[in-house]
Amino acid sequence: MTVLRTAVDPAAPEYAAHRAAMLEKLAALETEHAKALAGGGEKYVERHRKRGKLLARERIELLLDPDTAFLELSPLAAWGSDYPVGASLVTGIGTVEGVECLITANDPTVRGGASNPWTLRKALRANEIAYANRLPCVSLVESGGADLPSQKEIFIPGGALFRDITRLSAAGIPTVAVVFGNSTAGGAYVPGMSDHTVMIRERSKVFLGGPPLVRMATGEESDDESLGGAEMHARVSGLADHYALDEPDAIRRARRIVARLNHRKAHPDPGPAEPPKYDPEELLGIVPGELRTPFDPREVIARIVDGSDFDEFKPLYGTSLVTGWASLLGYPVGVLANAQGVLFSAESQKAAQFIQLANQRDIPLLFLHNTTGYMVGREYEQGGIIKHGAMMINAVANSRVPHLSVLLGASYGAGHYGMCGRAYDPRFLFAWPSAKSAVMGPQQLAGVLSIVARASAAAKGQPYDDEGDAALRAMVEQQIEAESLPAFLSGRLYDDGVIDPRDTRTVLGLCLSAIHTAPVEGARGGFGVFRM
Ligand code: COA
Repeated sequence: MTVLRTAVDPAAPEYAAHRAAMLEKLAALETEHAKALAGGGEKYVERHRKRGKLLARERIELLLDPDTAFLELSPLAAWGSDYPVGASLVTGIGTVEGVECLITANDPTVRGGASNPWTLRKALRANEIAYANRLPCVSLVESGGADLPSQKEIFIPGGALFRDITRLSAAGIPTVAVVFGNSTAGGAYVPGMSDHTVMIRERSKVFLGGPPLVRMATGEESDDESLGGAEMHARVSGLADHYALDEPDAIRRARRIVARLNHRKAHPDPGPAEPPKYDPEELLGIVPGELRTPFDPREVIARIVDGSDFDEFKPLYGTSLVTGWASLLGYPVGVLANAQGVLFSAESQKAAQFIQLANQRDIPLLFLHNTTGYMVGREYEQGGIIKHGAMMINAVANSRVPHLSVLLGASYGAGHYGMCGRAYDPRFLFAWPSAKSAVMGPQQLAGVLSIVARASAAAKGQPYDDEGDAALRAMVEQQIEAESLPAFLSGRLYDDGVIDPRDTRTVLGLCLSAIHTAPVEGARGGFGVFRM
């Protein structure tokens, strides 16, 4: 029997407590997501509509095939920064004429759609996703270009945006730009570098310099239309391939362009899959509000994989890490999930072997995080925990099959790296509202700082201020706790979004489908030297 059994009891008081804690976190996140949806706020949304224009998400909705999903990415970008949540850009994956595409849309209601440092990070992340998964890119452009007060943060690194468009094109990944309004100065290179461009009558403005700048530079008198209007670009400069009459017409034309791309997926859709045997609603009651209490990740696996069917690998060895094979919406996956939190030598070696097997078989890997890191202490150091942890990190870093990471609970220390944290290039990384990630837990970090400060005072022969120490510890703990939370990390683009646990299967299924646009091929060698 490989169908997982469950010990979750929805009538148990701890289940109710876990669920209540999760629902509270979800409600708080909902408020933050609503900020992204509100864009620049009522005044600017109203003004935009009065101009007869569609909002960014309405443009996306019209572009997509009716009743198909849109997997929005990084909606909390810029959270906790001085810039509005969402970073004035919408990005995500959706289906256009049956083709999964990476779609970006500037939000012109937020500071004229200008790009701030977080907009840039979000756009670059979207390009990375398109490149790794060979997804055609459709850019719905209307932007005031660089956010001028923050130009020093974006001007030089921002050149990568235009570089990416042409590199995507060179790699045979189609790029389409639909210009709804302003796309001036550097922004002009979005249509300029794209394979296909659509411009809209009396709406698109694509020029390197507008009339005031031209007057300053050369003394020439000009106007928007003759410098960069859709009609001029369609009839005279040739930059516009399509001259649309209005926004819906432009979107219709973009759909026709995608329909004719002849862009084929490397792997066919696997067809219908058996749903899990257990209710995904129960995912709310598994992770404890207090992460110190362990939970069995098989309960999560049982609610996200097809038929709750899981062939566990080495179940008797390195039991703090669960590894095994399953399928998710028909796609084969190898799952690595932390069980008791800590990674020991056996877990690390088991992970390294499992990752190599997945590479030999071309099977994508799914990492479910709940780890406090690799074990410390004399016994473990002497047992070689560094070299064994290094084996796991070596295997993750050099693995070539696509990786998906979901932070369910803790993701601390080098455990975050071994479990394919952000720096290890998972194709997608999501967090549950219960997740926390940092170099170590807040209490441990504050404690370490205090021990170091005490030792430093002793070395200088100075008395140690115990009262000050308690206050400092409390302050540090609070700061690290705040910096470990999912909204904060998502704001910094350290994940691709914070998701409702109940959506995990759907989100991962959409990712796996997108991933299979590109060939899935494991590394047949090419790992670093494994220290034995
Ligand atoms: N950087 C920073 N803030 C910008 C900005 C930019 N590039 N473009 C617009 N904004 C701000 C405006 O100051 C305004 O702020 P406020 O509401 O606090 O007054 C807000 O965004 C909305 O701009 P507004 O001009 O009222 O909107 P609009 O829809 O009428 O016009 C633009 C939008 C983009 C056409 C116009 O703002 C513009 O020309 N901006 C400068 C474009 C430019 O030269 N960019 C440099 C490219 S490298």
